[in-house]
Amino acid sequence: MENDRPTGAVSFDNRGRVALVSGGGGGIGKAICEAFLASGAQVVCLEINEASRAKTDERIEFVHGSTATEDDCRAAVDTAVEKFGGLDVLVNNASIQPTDSYVTVDEMSAELWERIVGVNLSGYTFLAKHALQVMKRQQSGVVVNIASAQGHRTARGVPAYGPIKAANLLQARQWGVEYARDGIRVVSVSPGAIYTDLVRETVAIQGGEERIANRHPLGRIGEPEEIANAVLWLSSASASFVTATDLEVDGGLGAFAAFADPYQMKDPQAD
Ligand SMILES: NC(=O)c1ccc[n+]([C@@H]2O[C@H](COP(=O)([O-])OP(=O)(O)OC[C@H]3O[C@@H](n4cnc5c(N)ncnc54)[C@H](O)[C@@H]3O)[C@@H](O)[C@H]2O)c1
Repeated sequence: MENDRPTGAVSFDNRGRVALVSGGGGGIGKAICEAFLASGAQVVCLEINEASRAKTDERIEFVHGSTATEDDCRAAVDTAVEKFGGLDVLVNNASIQPTDSYVTVDEMSAELWERIVGVNLSGYTFLAKHALQVMKRQQSGVVVNIASAQGHRTARGVPAYGPIKAANLLQARQWGVEYARDGIRVVSVSPGAIYTDLVRETVAIQGGEERIANRHPLGRIGEPEEIANAVLWLSSASASFVTATDLEVDGGLGAFAAFADPYQMKDPQAD
């Protein structure tokens, strides 16, 4: 039901701050880069897809490389420090979920396992390692790991992606505890389904767009900007007492039990 009540809004001021985002060439990462840029931050994007450079705002420092390669992570952190004088926020976002990874664990090739571990687990650690060295020297900083609803509860066909997303939650908690007395906060954000290439490529495997939307109590798939909003809040001083924890930004998905009556699917004839 439409109404004209005011909705409220917050805005962020990141002038003078430096943010490094992995996988900022598309999807959620791109929305996070643009939100930091719009709020005044200097932004560095570590991205494997060179073709996305052309579609990236020229004010964003694009570093071509892979988070799965430690030297590339070091280079991205060095770029932030050399160009902009420090590093205030790291967003570990780049992850892969190849369409051929929807298998059972007994069918999973070692090559596929290593590839997913390399980006989704080691990549988060390598980039955090180099960012935290800088933040420790500064005695300030925020790290945000993008995890997933799939890190909290599981499904069939995700024997690598799901458990590794759970590891992203515990990386944030462990680092959060470790560096709490160094002025550094570490948190994770767990999105529900969000409209990006990663989801578009797997819509059919997951039962189609309407079904995915209907599994979320809010009845829709989320937008990348809705994750960016959470990241900006968590990395701001407004979240100064929030560390070593997770925020689910999932339209209620995580609270909705498998034994609950499913919401009725919207009648396509109704519109
Ligand atoms: N989209 C969703 O519904 C959803 C839901 C839950 C969690 N997530 C998480 O959100 C994050 C972003 O997902 P997305 O949907 O935007 O994905 P996406 O595939 O749309 O974008 C990922 C970006 O990361 C880049 N990338 C991939 N491997 C890289 C590497 N090794 N080094 C550097 N860059 C690399 C890609 O080129 C791409 O630009 C991921 O951590 C994902 O697990 C997404």
